Amino acid sequence: MDKFVVHGGNPLRGSLRISGSKNSALPILAATLLTPEPCIIHNVPNLSDIRYMLQILQHLGAEVTFENGTVRVCAANIHSETSYDLVRKMRASICVLGPLLARLGRATISLPGGCVIGDRPIDLHLKGLETLGAQIEVEEGNVIASAPRLIGSEVFLGGKFGSTVLGTDNIMMAATRAKGVTIIESAACEPEVRDLAEFLIKMGAKIQGQGTRRIEIEGVDFLRGVEHHVIPDRIEAGTFMVGALISGGDLRLTHLAPEHLGAVTNALKQAGAEIKIEGNEMQIRATGPLKSIEVITETYPGFPTDMQAQFCALMSVVPGISVIAEKVFPNRFMHLSELKRMGAKIDLEGSTAIIHGVDHLGGAPVMASDLRASAALVLAGLVAKGVTTVNRVYHIDRGYEKIDEKLRSVGAVIERQKE
Ligand code: EPZ
Repeated sequence: MDKFVVHGGNPLRGSLRISGSKNSALPILAATLLTPEPCIIHNVPNLSDIRYMLQILQHLGAEVTFENGTVRVCAANIHSETSYDLVRKMRASICVLGPLLARLGRATISLPGGCVIGDRPIDLHLKGLETLGAQIEVEEGNVIASAPRLIGSEVFLGGKFGSTVLGTDNIMMAATRAKGVTIIESAACEPEVRDLAEFLIKMGAKIQGQGTRRIEIEGVDFLRGVEHHVIPDRIEAGTFMVGALISGGDLRLTHLAPEHLGAVTNALKQAGAEIKIEGNEMQIRATGPLKSIEVITETYPGFPTDMQAQFCALMSVVPGISVIAEKVFPNRFMHLSELKRMGAKIDLEGSTAIIHGVDHLGGAPVMASDLRASAALVLAGLVAKGVTTVNRVYHIDRGYEKIDEKLRSVGAVIERQKE
């Protein structure tokens, strides 16, 4: 296993290119199962989660190549059974369920395990597919779904934590081949859901309302192979925005979609950041001490839960008391104990973190736990006095393309070592 060794105290200065979105590429790769024709997808980040998904597609019988950010998939001859060994590694693999059911009329998927950010149920996915006429059985840790023909229907996807991103993806993909019209109420509005809808529309799907809470899909008989360019990764961009501020630096981010970062930009401006946006580029710096603020994580367009850990790291060194309430994954606070090992003063009241800004953090050996928590620990290491060792960086490699190389290119002292 690799670790990162970070020497704090170096402001990030320079320009960083934002990679393609992991959370857009994953469901789009699953959607290639909907057609026997070849698909070409550009701007795909080279991450372990992406490589897992490609392995799953290959296991299902698809032909796959991945070179220089471009994936070529041809799912002409596929079967419907995934392998537990692959699926257990990545929850997002659940989003092959809808396409397999639509294409083959059956699918066997291992139930995704939980993970450190909390229980990861799929009840809304299964309820939605049953509403479309699928028979669902759960046996020995597998979901076995079958539907000779899916029938368009009205599907409500609201759960107690809001809508479901991958659940919306699954139902939307299944509905593209259902008989009649499907209406998804309380759909997820994330940009990644919209990007998937654009991909499906290119394939010949009839979809309206993507990006709103109500999506309408009229089933068609065939979907063709297409070419697509994945949207930029808004969470990688948000992570580097925090990197610029926490290190007292000045970064130019390029090839991003600023319109996908409204809540993050608003919160950081409220804290005193200077953010200038020109087209698909952003210049961000702190012109003076930042101010403590309060934030609530919500489904899009609210402040993203995937930025909560990074926000905690930043606010731990901002004078005053900041507050972040986690409304999407209430248990997503594994990073707090590690930040406290670095001297952060953070109290957890239920699913709300009360952050008392300290003068500085101290470098320490810390343990990565989940993708975004790990990124937060690297950010904390950038500003901490001394050396921070972040262990188990495979968590980071799941969702950030060459993050150590990118950070070094703008002045960070960070090196990857074998643990
Ligand atoms: C997607 O996960 C993202 N992953 C997550 O990003 C992100 O944190 C999450 O959406 C929320 O924005 C990908 O897109 C691959 P949800 P997803 O279903 O779709 C509950 C990262 O760091 N729920 O929107 O699995 C669930 O427990 C990852 O890149 C049910 O109750 O999340 C949670 O509390 C981490 N029943 C809430 O809804 C269900 O059937 C939102 O989950 C499904 C979800």
